[in-house]
Amino acid sequence: MEGMLKENSLKGKTIIVTGGGTGLGRSMGKYFLELGANLVISSRKMDVLEKAAKELEQETGGKVLPVACDIRKYEEIEQVIRKTEERFGQIHGVLNNAAGNFISPTERLSHRAFDIVVDIVLRGTYNFTLAMGKNWINNKQGGTFLNIVTTYAWTGSGYVVPSACAKAGVLAMTRSLASEWAKYGIRSNAIAPGPFPTEGAWKRLFPGEVAEKIDPLKRIPLGRFGEHQELANLAAYLMSDYSAYVNGEVVTIDGGEWIKGGGEFNSLDEVPQEIWDQLEKMRNR
Ligand code: HXC
Ligand code: NAP
Repeated sequence: MEGMLKENSLKGKTIIVTGGGTGLGRSMGKYFLELGANLVISSRKMDVLEKAAKELEQETGGKVLPVACDIRKYEEIEQVIRKTEERFGQIHGVLNNAAGNFISPTERLSHRAFDIVVDIVLRGTYNFTLAMGKNWINNKQGGTFLNIVTTYAWTGSGYVVPSACAKAGVLAMTRSLASEWAKYGIRSNAIAPGPFPTEGAWKRLFPGEVAEKIDPLKRIPLGRFGEHQELANLAAYLMSDYSAYVNGEVVTIDGGEWIKGGGEFNSLDEVPQEIWDQLEKMRNR
């Protein structure tokens, strides 16, 4: 559970983490700070970002700039880039980590519910990638994209269909740009985590009585969840110059889960309709 890279491995680098105020984005950002990077954290809720920035600065002694931004809005992303350049100068990396997700039988989704997840995950990620990529290419600077997907980007999974569609798109973009933008010195890689406990994911993916019906640990050959530091170690490596020859790769870190089970949420077949009804009622209260 220790940091893996040498001290100062990210010294002098400025890295933007979308969704960096909570969960895995915050943990990866914290390790980037410990390795000497300047950090920009961005998401919709400024109060959450400001609190996280203060705590991260206290915990690491590093510099953190919180910037509110809804990644579905291209102009807001341009503002994040502008404010980052004003504060830190050149930008070296973007961790596309922000996401939206929940479980539902697909036929129960409204088209707006489908939109909301795809818009955050796919539109948000391509928006950030396009804005940053144009900036790097115009300034004749290289850079590194690291995109957080998950294993159902290629297996598919029932009950999280909008997320699966969107993550598959992000993975396709990762591989496509790894080829197209390498000539500009821009690398693109992805990480596919299995279950790593976070408040944001757990309350949406294992809500109410679903948590009693589904034991995600049973699906994992290693018999445990991931530790945030394990993910942070991998992310820092892929952000750092140590991985300079890694481009277009997706690295799975899931304790062997997808090999064992394939589609992440197919076992929600066991949840009876009454429980879905109850959940829907709870949500509409
Ligand atoms: C069905 C739902 C729903 C649910 C919302 N909707 N939640 N439908 N089941 N549980 C519908 C609403 O009814 C509405 O449609 C539409 O979706 C928009 O809902 P809002 O609540 O207005 O959206 P908003 O406030 O913008 O919130 C977005 C969100 C929310 C995605 C719904 O959960 C969020 O803010 N998430 C951000 C963080 C997050 O999701 N983190 C978890 C990532 S975990 P109608 O038709 O009524 O207007 C992850 C793990 C992957 O990705 C892999 C794990 C192994
Ligand atoms: P989380 O804490 O809920 O993180 C999601 C983040 O996205 C939040 O900080 C949220 O902040 C931000 N966000 C949502 N919509 C946004 C928008 N429109 N614009 C900007 N930011 C937005 O959940 P997490 O578990 O850490 O997930 C982080 C990443 O890991 C996601 O890509 C997820 O798919 C992936 N992942 C997680 C797991 C897991 O087990 N935890 C497994 C596989 C993959 P605001 O609400 O303030 O906007």
